[in-house]
Amino acid sequence: MSFDRSLKIAPSILSADFANFGAEIQAIEAQGCDWVHVDVMDGHFVPNLTFGPPLCAAIRPHIKTVMDVHLMISPVDQYIDAFAQAGADVITAHVEATPHIHRTMQAIRGAGAKAGLALNPGTPAEACDYLLDMVDLICVMTVNPGFGGQKFIHSQVEKVGKLRAMIGDRPIHIEIDGGVTPETAPLVAAAGADVLVAGSAVFKGGSVSNPAPYGENMRAIRAAVG
Ligand code: DX5
Ligand code: ZN
Repeated sequence: MSFDRSLKIAPSILSADFANFGAEIQAIEAQGCDWVHVDVMDGHFVPNLTFGPPLCAAIRPHIKTVMDVHLMISPVDQYIDAFAQAGADVITAHVEATPHIHRTMQAIRGAGAKAGLALNPGTPAEACDYLLDMVDLICVMTVNPGFGGQKFIHSQVEKVGKLRAMIGDRPIHIEIDGGVTPETAPLVAAAGADVLVAGSAVFKGGSVSNPAPYGENMRAIRAAVG
């Protein structure tokens, strides 16, 4: 995984057909996605449940791009090795999910994955202080985590700008997660984000048997950013 700040679209398979993940992943990659975003929820840190390491390992062979695993789980540290062994390229943990986020970032890199740090909407940019030299990605949640299809929280755009300034020339991606559409994508891209997670905005109108809308939806986001 080489680093660059070009715009990347990471469809969230939370909005895919859960009975058909392999074919859905092949479809979004064929339609031009850059990364594949995998949302892990525990029913404790967030009020929803999805799946764990065995599912990640099962879909891994279908992912030719980047497997971007977003852990919305607490506790988190004892599961990191399992997600790394499942083949995650990026593992993102929430700063709110553990009293020892520094240790968590160390553990992710120690397991051989890129380390991502996610911030809930109520968590300030300054929560990343003292961590910038040990992370590869900062995920700004632009909805409250737990569900797809929620409305973008506009106050987070200012946070993205602050983080971009704090990051300077360090090789750290800024990822946006939640409510990304052709209307909201240009706001966060202008503020400095380079990875846009999008669930409902990518999968709407399409299916495995009719994947063309996935490509149209992604092109609409890219065109809006310009
Ligand atoms: C929310 C998840 C997101 C979600 C985004 O907790 O982390 O990745 O799938 O869905 P949309 O793009 O529909 O807001
Ligand atoms: Zn996510």
